[in-house]
Amino acid sequence: MAASHSEVWQGGTVAATHSLTPEIRRIEIDVDDPVRVDAGAHVVVRMPIAGEIERRSYSVVDASPDGIRIALSVFSSPVSRGGAAVMNALAPGDRVELTRPLNDFPLRLGAPRYVLVAGGVGITAMIGMAERLRDAGADYRVVYAGRSRPLMAYLNQLEERHGDRLSVHVRDEGTSITVPALVEELAPGTEVYVCGPIRLMDAIRRAWLDRGLPIASLRMETFGNSGWFDAQEFTVRIPAIGLETRVSSTQSMLEALEAAGADMLYDCRKGECGLCEVRVLGLVGEIDHRDVFYSERQRNASEKMCCCVSRVVPATAGDAVVTILTT
Ligand code: FES
Repeated sequence: MAASHSEVWQGGTVAATHSLTPEIRRIEIDVDDPVRVDAGAHVVVRMPIAGEIERRSYSVVDASPDGIRIALSVFSSPVSRGGAAVMNALAPGDRVELTRPLNDFPLRLGAPRYVLVAGGVGITAMIGMAERLRDAGADYRVVYAGRSRPLMAYLNQLEERHGDRLSVHVRDEGTSITVPALVEELAPGTEVYVCGPIRLMDAIRRAWLDRGLPIASLRMETFGNSGWFDAQEFTVRIPAIGLETRVSSTQSMLEALEAAGADMLYDCRKGECGLCEVRVLGLVGEIDHRDVFYSERQRNASEKMCCCVSRVVPATAGDAVVTILTT
């Protein structure tokens, strides 16, 4: 099994929790092994879910200057299970197991201008970046989209800190984000960072490619994205090793295969690097591609999938089953 080489595990104690919106809870943790926290960093938290030890990634929203206290924000709905339910049940004094802050979404200073685009809870990945750009005196804009103001975490704080540099798009107010216009208006040399639902990221990527902009200037943070369909249970088979297992709605396919004893490769576990790719030999249902690794053509072909994030959903009534070959 391959683990990300940069993961260093530590303990932490929950210091404070409170609700920011009806769906988003802020959790502050005092870590045992503090290090400097860079903008764009995240941590992986290990937790027991339905009898298995699973891992979930969360952006570090902010941290104390000494790195001892870090704040995460967790999205959940009234029907949340899995990681969100475990995180929401945390109370001051509880111990958690987490990595040191990791950063595969680093902010590259030095570009002529920046646009940070966040949808919903994706704002948690952007707050530190916006602060860093503000401190550096950079030319930047923050574009924040949500369903309604009461559901948009950190909105007041952002308005206070970034003033006119913040554009807010609220679906309930009829001011939803218009992605083609946003991309069309970008001045040459702009670096764009995006974190939000898969539909938002996909729309930006398409508009970006349509405009022929350099792909290296578009940076996406994927974890926590919601996919095109609701997560459902499905079956995965690897005939080459005689393995068949169920993937619950709260588990990734990679987690289910690991729990069943398969030797899997992975690195980012966020749908970005492609290392967890599996070949699809047979499919009953449809693949819900949640990665940003494949092109649209590759996704439509459904010959491969990133099993750390992508799932299978039934095309009609009945079970969804995917038969794969690990690479
Ligand atoms: S581990 Fe990187 S895309 Fe799955």
